[in-house]
This record gives sequence, C-alpha cells and structure tokens, in this order.
Amino acid sequence: MCGIVGAVGFINPKEYIIEGLKKLEYRGYDSAGVAMLSDNTIKIIKDKGTIDHLATLLPECFDTDLAIGHTRWATHGAPNKTNSHPHISKSKKISIVHNGVIENYLDVKSFLNKHNYDFATSTDTEVVVNLIELFYEQNGDMLTALQKSMRILKGSYALCIINVDDPNSIYIMKNCSPLLIGACEDFTLVSSDAGAMTKYTDRFIELSDLEYGKIQKDKVEIYNINGQRVDKVATKKNLEDLEIDLNGYPHYMLKEIDEIENVIHKIISQYYVDDEFNFDKDLLSDMRRADNIIFIACGTSYHASLVGGRYFEVYNKSASIYFASEWAFHPTFPGNKPFVILISQSGETADVIHCQKIINEHKIPHLVITNTDGSTLQRNAMYYLLLYAGREISVASTKAYVAQVALLAILSRALGDIKQVITDLYKCIDIIRDIRYHWQDKIKDIAMQIKDIKDVFYLGRGYDYFMALEASLKLKEISYIHSEAFAGGEIKHGPIALIEQGMPVIIFITDPEITHSIRGNVEEVKARGAKTFTIARDSLSRETDTIIIQEYPSYLSSVAVSPFAFYLAYYVSLFKGYNVDKPRNLAKSVTVE
Ligand code: F6R
Repeated sequence: MCGIVGAVGFINPKEYIIEGLKKLEYRGYDSAGVAMLSDNTIKIIKDKGTIDHLATLLPECFDTDLAIGHTRWATHGAPNKTNSHPHISKSKKISIVHNGVIENYLDVKSFLNKHNYDFATSTDTEVVVNLIELFYEQNGDMLTALQKSMRILKGSYALCIINVDDPNSIYIMKNCSPLLIGACEDFTLVSSDAGAMTKYTDRFIELSDLEYGKIQKDKVEIYNINGQRVDKVATKKNLEDLEIDLNGYPHYMLKEIDEIENVIHKIISQYYVDDEFNFDKDLLSDMRRADNIIFIACGTSYHASLVGGRYFEVYNKSASIYFASEWAFHPTFPGNKPFVILISQSGETADVIHCQKIINEHKIPHLVITNTDGSTLQRNAMYYLLLYAGREISVASTKAYVAQVALLAILSRALGDIKQVITDLYKCIDIIRDIRYHWQDKIKDIAMQIKDIKDVFYLGRGYDYFMALEASLKLKEISYIHSEAFAGGEIKHGPIALIEQGMPVIIFITDPEITHSIRGNVEEVKARGAKTFTIARDSLSRETDTIIIQEYPSYLSSVAVSPFAFYLAYYVSLFKGYNVDKPRNLAKSVTVE
C-alpha cells in the first residue's frame, strides 16, 4: 500500500519525483525515499516522515536522468528510516521500490540465506532486490532475472528496479498492484498512479498482472511471464479526471464534503436520463431474477452496503451484507439465485479483490460499484457502475459514501421503476445545502464541546443506525477520539454501563416510525449523566434538539444527514490540530489484506 515513481531520460527529475510522490501520498505516508543513479553508483536518500520532509533532505538539483522514488505505508517492519524504500542489494548494484506484499518472503529469505545473503531490514522488499541480484549474477541479464524472480515470488508487487550496469533503464515488474508507464516526448515515466504523471503526459501504458520489462528514454519493452514480448500502445486518459486541486480549500475533506450536492446531481444525471432510469438491461434483469443480494465491502463502503441491503427488501429480496475481509475466508452464497454487489470507492481494496476472484470462480453474477474508472475491480467485473463523484483525496471517505448510497437508492428503485426516488434525492440536496449554509456554526460549536473528550457514542435506529455507524467511523479515524455507534435498542443490553457524567452521545432522530423508541433511548442515557446532542427531523423535533433538519424520506438518511457527521468529524480533527486529510496509520487505498 505504497506509491512508486520513476523517471528515465529526464534531466534533473527532482520536481517530478517529489510532486509525483506527493500525489501518491494517499497510498501511504509514513516514510519516503529516492534512489538516483549517476557515475556508476546508486545514491539513496530516505527517511521516516512525509514527502515534504524528504524534500528537505534532497540536493537542489538531481545530477542524473534516472531516479526512482517511494512513499510508504508500512506492512513489514516499523515505519523507520531502515525499513523505508528504496532498498539496495547486497552488492549495492541494484536498487528497488516496491508497492505490495510478498506473501512467501520468509521462504525466499531462507533460500537466499543459503546463498550467503543477510538482511538489514525487516521488509519483504529487501528479499526481492536480493533475489533479483542473485539471478542477475547467475546469468548477467536483468530481464531473465526478473522472469525467474516472478516465477518464485507470490503476492502483490509493482516494482521499479535500477541497476548500475544499465544506467539507461528502469526495470519494472507487476502483479496485483497497479503500475503505469507515462509516455512523454523526451523521457519515460512510471508510477503506481497516472495522477502522479499528469503534468507531463496524458498517454499511459498499463501493465497487466505477471508482466515485466524495461523502460528507457524513448523505448518500452514488456514481456509476459513466459518471456514473450507483449505489444502495448499508450492510451489517452482524460486529465480532468486525474487532476487534483484544493481550489482554495484548506483541506480536501472540506472540499469533498462541500462537493456532495454536485455529486448527487451528477449521479442523477448519469442514471436517470430523459425521465427514465439508465441502467444496462441485462444488469436489471439479473438483479430482478435474484432472490438474495449479497453485499461485500469494507469500512465506509460496508456502511453504504448496510443501507443498500435494506433498499432491496422492497422487492421481497433478502440481503446478506459481509465485510470483505471476513467473507473472503468463509465464502458463502445464500439464496437460490444470489447476485453479488461489491462496493469500493477506490476499486483497489485488496480484501474486495480477493472476494471478486472467488465470485468469478463460482460464476455468480456480480456488480462492482466504484468511483475509480479503470480500477482492478472494475476491470474484472461482470457489471460495473461508476459513482462519478470525482477523485476523492482525503483519506476519510465522504462524497463517495453519499454517492454509493444515492446510487443504490436509484438502482433499487429502477428494479420497480419507482421514479419518486429522483424527487426524494433532489429534496436531500436542499437539506445538504441547509446543513452547509445554516448549521456549520452550530456544528463547530458541538466540535468544540467534544474535542477534548475521550469517548463518544452515536445512537440511531433503522436507517439512522447505519448513519450512526458511519458518523462514528469518521470521527474516530480523523480525531482519534474513541467513538462507537449503537442501535438505540441495544444500548441497555450492555453499552449503557459505559455512560459517565458528561459523556457526549449524539443521536439521530429522523424516522417517524421509531421516534418514540429512540426518544426513550435519549432519556435513558441522559438519566445516566450523558450530554446528548440530538439531530432531529423537523416534524419529529423538540425545542431541546441540537440540530433540526428539514423534512425528507427516512430511507435517504445517509444521503441527507451525513454531511452533518462529516463536518463534525472534520472540525473536531481541525480543532485538535491534526492532519485532517492524512490521519495517522491509515491510507486512502488499502491494497493489502
Ligand atoms: C473511511 C474509509 C475506509 C474505506 C475502506 C474501503 O473513511 O474511507 O473505511 O471505506 O478502506 O475502501 P474502498 O471503498 O476504497 O474499498
């Protein structure tokens, strides 16, 4: 779960390496480094910390036209200088940057020990660079060394490799982690993400799994695992989709929350055209035929799945909702005619990709819902639907979550041609605007009140419970406050024991059918000393409520009310002085299981 960049034939590539790595920080940001090749030597500069910190360690000018760089999210070994990339081989001739996880690195390590290799780091990557070196020393050819290594290594990898014996090439190798080559006039770039290269090109060559090769100033050679040459042409990508800009905002998270209303407009315009639902007919008929919809996702996308599961109950379909990381190791297809929906903002989440492989092996029809055009999940999908939310940079997912729920609402209603959903979504836009323009000060006030607290509870029932789960995840991931969400009715079965004098409990009250019960829960926690903050729908509200939301249909709670939860988490993190967009220990794209 790291980001890699490389440049060959590019005189003084410092700016590309640093700016490119910064664009990849969403893939991890606990340490970073660069390796350059000049005068027959590899020079490595690396350290724990951010790309900005790395930049302060680098020379004014890179005296080379060949360099590779890395931003890391630690998997094997602590995030420190020793374990950070690039790594170098025993003879100091070969250096490497790696994104992914080598599953059999301990076996390979023992194999290398027998060939007199010792290791200075706890990483799987140091094993890879030495394996390549061993094969290179045996036959003197880097491409053969890569092919032989590929036959041994198990797991995921996108690799850029440099060798002092060949100062004109970057060698590359890929399996289950993205790797793209950027085709430019006078030089060639490589990276785990096209977004890192958009300043220089809009033409990219994407490597497939189990391919390796080398790039030079004006030449690209790619081979498959059998050593056969693979011809690939560069394809043009729309740079607007890849560009990321703060547009004057202090943080991506705030920008992305503010974009939510446009995201809903966009999703309606894509999936409801000329007063008709706009979906693939085969997709709809496969879904209509199904008696059980199985949702598989992680984190925030899992929370969207919980909401989606309920949407299909309208058609007497049952729904089974699983965490990808659990389902992958206990696959089950409940129902006589199951249909699977995989939801992933990034489309690159390793746990979900693992599940997709199993689903494809079983030939069960499935749909991928993703925000990332060209992602691994999309490419391997039977059906896919894009979220059109625009790139989400902040690690905390906000606009993509709302897009997921809105799309599930539209898709589920399309099965029965229930067009009311469109009017209902427009209504949500009004509420989102109301929260944005009229309630921000109140939200900041709540944030000030909870920012120094140790524990927070969220409560809700029905759709509000799903909302509470997402609200709680958002708060904990960027403010580091311990936060939990409970279904209102469950509180008295255990969690109420934790309520202490002054403990904040945030409660959603938006469903008329269960207002009475959730109001009862408010009283229960208040009686134990909780400080309650209630977010209530107008027609269900009381004078004492903290925030009053205009009317909307309850099933869209996660669309209409989530900006409240997102702004709250944002302001708490901001007031605590944390890095809102890059919370500790996390990464935007979780490409390891
Ligand atoms: C939380 C968050 C994560 C992701 C999860 C799945 O704000 O963003 O919980 O939702 O890592 O990621 P995707 O949706 O890319 O599969």
